Amino acid sequence: MSRAAASLFGVRLARCRARMKPPRLLQLFRFGTDILGKLPGKGDGVVQILVKALALADSYEKTFARKTTVYQDIFDRYDLREKRSEAFVRLFFDTDLCHDGFTLRRQGASDHVELIEAVSLDGERLFFQEMRYGKPEIANDFFHTPRFDFAKALRSIWKRYPHGIYLSSRPSRSGYGRESTFCAIPDVAYDLTAPAMDRIVNAIAAHSARKGQAWCTILYGPPGTGKTAHVNGFAFLSGKRLLKIDASALPQLGPLELSFLVDALKPQVLLIDDFDRAPIDDTRSRVLYLFEHVKQEHAGLATFITVNRSDGLDPALLRSQRIDDAEEFPVLTAQERIEVIGRIKKAALRALFQEADAQQRFAGFNHADFMAAVNRCNDDERFDDVMGSIQRLRALAEAAEAAATKSGAAPDGAPKAPT
Ligand SMILES: Nc1ncnc2c1ncn2[C@@H]1O[C@H](COP(=O)(O)OP(=O)(O)OP(=O)(O)O)[C@@H](O)[C@H]1O
Ligand SMILES: [Mg+2]
Repeated sequence: MSRAAASLFGVRLARCRARMKPPRLLQLFRFGTDILGKLPGKGDGVVQILVKALALADSYEKTFARKTTVYQDIFDRYDLREKRSEAFVRLFFDTDLCHDGFTLRRQGASDHVELIEAVSLDGERLFFQEMRYGKPEIANDFFHTPRFDFAKALRSIWKRYPHGIYLSSRPSRSGYGRESTFCAIPDVAYDLTAPAMDRIVNAIAAHSARKGQAWCTILYGPPGTGKTAHVNGFAFLSGKRLLKIDASALPQLGPLELSFLVDALKPQVLLIDDFDRAPIDDTRSRVLYLFEHVKQEHAGLATFITVNRSDGLDPALLRSQRIDDAEEFPVLTAQERIEVIGRIKKAALRALFQEADAQQRFAGFNHADFMAAVNRCNDDERFDDVMGSIQRLRALAEAAEAAATKSGAAPDGAPKAPT
């Protein structure tokens, strides 16, 4: 049993005990049997009499005095509900949301547990348990008053993250498993190529023409081809709230937890990024459940799922009505290369790039490679050094891809790229 679960078990026990107070007669009987043998006798000396008197007082205290624990106290006072959400606990404490419209109060619940009470402006309450076995850690199980409004509590978070919230994961601070992390999606400088910008503008127009229909699109293509940039641009240019969930966070987010997060955060654009890189196989059922849920509950939500390789995905996921559309993201076209080279300000560097392009030296470069080449040269790195390092990386990536295709799966178990 985990420490949090053990503590919860204690709480439930305390609640049961509080409800089931033994009848007075039974208490008397217990007290009577308990004090037999503790009553002072004729031959007792002063010390023995004193010890027995103390034992009697102890029996009385144990039987009749109603000692209230902190837990009993709060359960007596509020009609609390139990909830378990690792993501909400992280969101509440790690993003400083707890100081935004909440008053916090701490009180010791036992030698190893501290109770953190958070009272919202409208008087609703949350009770968290900080476990103090070694490094303090807030348990994922907590309690809340019945009318506590999670969506309302989380609303202010979007002000802190105007360009979107990025949910990922990292090894847990306690050393067991992983924990969710939340951070801001950085402000993007929109110097995407014209075709990429057109694509975003068209996607926004198509979405608003659907008039509130929840819509899900899968974006597929090799690494670095602009899939994530497309979704960032879609959210930014349409002024919508973006929640980006990295596939690495899926293992610790069960289907209910995922749905709860989406219900509470109310994003307008949801991105499940690098889905085929999820480190476990059973993420499929979570995403299936999530898609069914958001289709029913979140009108107007634009959901995107990005993958490098699509042929290993579950056909059930790709079924119409779960995913509605698929879009390919290929490597840069010759036209896009000309456009980006044309933007290079230094004439000598521009000429160098034009010459290399004419020699097909950028063939197969994805957007990330090509942008890196331009930026690094702009930062005065030597053109040949930059080309050398990017080409070595390309060669490695191509070898890995060829090996994955030969074995029928990528080294990490992901399937091969779509044709
Ligand atoms: N059309 C474009 N014009 C200019 N820059 C672009 C374009 N598309 C992508 N980029 C840039 O290339 C880099 C990689 O793009 P992005 O991260 O969107 O690729 P991705 O397809 O999501 O890759 P991965 O599959 O590895 O996640 C980013 O820095 C992005 O800004
Ligand atoms: Mg990406």
